Amino acid sequence: MRITVRSGQLGQIRDGVLVFAALEGEQKPERLLPDSTARDKALVKLIADSGLRGAANETVFLPKGNQWILAVGLGKAKGLSLERVRQFAGTAVKSIRTRGHRHAVLPVLRERGLGDTAAVARALAEGALLGLYRYDKLRTVPKHEKNKHVDAITLVVERSGDVAHARRGVEKAEVIAEAVRLARDLINGPANLVTPTVLANQARQLAQQHRLKCTVTPFARLKRLGFGGIVGVAQGSNHPAQFIVLEYRPARAKATFALCGKGITFDSGGLSLKPSAKMEQMKYDMSGAAAVLGTVKAAAELKLPYTVIGIIAATENMPSGTAQRPGDVLKTLSGKTVEVLNTDAEGRLVLADCLHYAKRFKPDCVVDLATLTGACVVALGSEAVGLMTKDEKLAARLSQAGKETYERVWRLPLWDEYGPAMKSDIADLRNVTNTGEAGTITAAKFLEEFAAGLNWAHLDIAGTAWADKDRPYIPKGAVGIGIRLLINLMEHWK
Ligand code: BES
Ligand code: MN
Ligand code: ZN
Repeated sequence: MRITVRSGQLGQIRDGVLVFAALEGEQKPERLLPDSTARDKALVKLIADSGLRGAANETVFLPKGNQWILAVGLGKAKGLSLERVRQFAGTAVKSIRTRGHRHAVLPVLRERGLGDTAAVARALAEGALLGLYRYDKLRTVPKHEKNKHVDAITLVVERSGDVAHARRGVEKAEVIAEAVRLARDLINGPANLVTPTVLANQARQLAQQHRLKCTVTPFARLKRLGFGGIVGVAQGSNHPAQFIVLEYRPARAKATFALCGKGITFDSGGLSLKPSAKMEQMKYDMSGAAAVLGTVKAAAELKLPYTVIGIIAATENMPSGTAQRPGDVLKTLSGKTVEVLNTDAEGRLVLADCLHYAKRFKPDCVVDLATLTGACVVALGSEAVGLMTKDEKLAARLSQAGKETYERVWRLPLWDEYGPAMKSDIADLRNVTNTGEAGTITAAKFLEEFAAGLNWAHLDIAGTAWADKDRPYIPKGAVGIGIRLLINLMEHWK
């Protein structure tokens, strides 16, 4: 996909489908965006007469000479935001594709409070590139569909002096969208194809492409080295677990981030087997790992001035003759022992080892991402990531990053009164409570035991990593959540 930036008047461009934005509830034609459109009276009348109300993501195709124009609703002027711009772009390019056109021409909107040219261009490019994503690797695409793809996008700025600014935004968006697409591919990929070994090879490939350091520790060595949490989960699977560390280390880094990702390539529950309904969805239990891979890739390509260490535990959780049993006690890398009362609470076991391992990098900040609890889906649904941390500043930074990227986070308490429910009679900890209360929080309290001394935040992405329905720039399936959030966090760190 090629995105070009040029200057001029949108209505004057002779090639491609011209996309116009219309605000809701604005009768006056000058409220059509961008501003310059208002001067083209014929165009204004065409859109005004089309019946378009301007509601967010409403579309109408209109003929203009031998060209098509597409008017897309932006919603009310009052709530205009970069998120609306991302949605606007996603909606536009998708409907252009559906119509069988190949070239989309979008205006870099200029509206008070929306942000500078670079930010708007970035939002447009992100929305367009993410919206066009499809997971087509494994199906025979019918010919009439195959021929339908948008292969050029032109962003138009009014002033030639803005071209360079817009380009900067587009370049960032391209890096980020590429990282999100990689994560989506890994997550959408079924568990027979995306195994722990495949994740390790993906990390190695990224290391080669972006000059990163990659260390993979396979199952046999993990056993010897005392990674008891990962080994306990992995021992039931025929696919050997892989502990992956991917490091981006720029010269003169200003801070070090450690990112821990849950990489359960399939979660059957183990001997505490899950019900079969929707079990197939548990291929997405490695969404945290995918986000970590994508974030390290994007951070390196954007040349962020921070060391970023990705730490991933990749394994399956399977029932078998060698699987861990309910009641087993394992010894984690930290030395703490855990009574495994439910083998389906496996994410916290593998993350315990990741978090402990993170300490050796003396990070300024540690964030873990995990599809950790069904309780988080119940509590927050698919609109918010569960955030748990004791650090007010980190909480504020993540909330702000969530608002800006629309990968919104919602904080749950990590009060110490929730801790005792995770104590065992015969080991240091148990991996589930016996009441089932506050499942998302108690899981985080378990993790906290392994994050002592770290400036740490836990993100439960169980509800947000998978989309059950199409959204303007998030097609049904893998969302690739976390990458835009973490990159934003790092971009604003200091
Ligand atoms: N991967 C699941 C959590 C999950 C559930 C993610 C639904 C996405 C959708 C996790 O490993 C799990 O099974 N958690 C258990 C914990 C319980 C046994 C304490 C759960 O949430 O049921
Ligand atoms: Mn589980
Ligand atoms: Zn799981």
